[in-house]
Amino acid sequence: MERIRLEFAPGVETEFTDRDRALAQVEEWAERGTWAPLVIFGPEGCGKTAFLRQAASGLRELGYDVFYLHPLDRAFSAEVDDPDVKTLFLDLVRKTLEDERWGRLALAVFDLVREILKKRRRKVAIIADDVFQAIGLDKAAAYVKGLLNTIEHPVYRYERIVVLVATSEGISRREIGRHRWAELVPMWNMPREGFQRLYEKLPGPKPSLDEVWRWTGGNPYMLRELYVKRWDVEKVVEGVVGTKELTADFARRWGRWLGEAVDDPEALWGRGAPQELLDELIARNLVVYNMYERDPYLWVDQPPPERDPELGIGKHVAWQTPIHREAVRRALED
Ligand SMILES: Nc1ncnc2c1ncn2[C@@H]1O[C@H](COP(=O)(O)OP(=O)(O)O)[C@@H](O)[C@H]1O
Ligand SMILES: [Mg+2]
Repeated sequence: MERIRLEFAPGVETEFTDRDRALAQVEEWAERGTWAPLVIFGPEGCGKTAFLRQAASGLRELGYDVFYLHPLDRAFSAEVDDPDVKTLFLDLVRKTLEDERWGRLALAVFDLVREILKKRRRKVAIIADDVFQAIGLDKAAAYVKGLLNTIEHPVYRYERIVVLVATSEGISRREIGRHRWAELVPMWNMPREGFQRLYEKLPGPKPSLDEVWRWTGGNPYMLRELYVKRWDVEKVVEGVVGTKELTADFARRWGRWLGEAVDDPEALWGRGAPQELLDELIARNLVVYNMYERDPYLWVDQPPPERDPELGIGKHVAWQTPIHREAVRRALED
């Protein structure tokens, strides 16, 4: 599978790096089709968007007609053999760029798939990145159900269908998990060797790999942040404190639990931590709560270790990255 090019940071172009197992999984899905929509969740910045773009390109290479939707980035494509469907799609995109009704475009994919299968049986992929924000979180489950229907009750027969969805929102996971309309699949930050390859591509003087690993836990977005901010960890942490609104009030209110969780995130599991706090931590994308067993079968790419106190990973609860944990620690100290 050819690897796509990515602009990693201003002036730094790389190819899609590592994630070998994930790419092998794409090939398996391509061979068999997905039996339900696969909804991929994981830490913000772990590489879900990059992976879906790579998967879209790979599936095209493997003979699929591919619809790709990423409303947050205003990125849409229909890499399809049928010129009529392509025209329909592009007209819709044009209209949507004008009136910004992103949800309509996400929904149109159902009609377009039907249209493309009308003429002949094909292999079709639908790849939807962060669509739930565009269509509204309350409609996430219904959307997923629509995708499942496309697989289970197609109007016209297809050869195979692959449906991949990524969501960066902790809460959408719960919304979707309520029903059995999708397979929820976690993805973690990059494994160390793969992360190292990305780290080595960054030009200029830089802290040791050990140090950068301890800060980022293998999260490529945090690597990018550190690089862009000239390896000034303080600045990156402050940035997280700001965007996550880790205010003095928040820290005061939940001080005791947060203090324990900074030492070991597993303190939030099974010991009566208030649901309201957990909801906040999940909604702000600070922790991943209820981590799956580390059976590779359940994960995209390689699962994280069962426990890594240095990186803030516990069996059931993990900080999204050590920098997220550090931001909370700072808020508690202020
Ligand atoms: N496998 C990879 N190889 C190279 N760059 C990557 C890889 N995965 C992620 N990145 C880069 O890391 C940053 C964050 O990744 P992204 O896919 O946006 O994360 P997410 O969608 O999970 O929030 C982006 O700049 C992206 O291009
Ligand atoms: Mg993304």
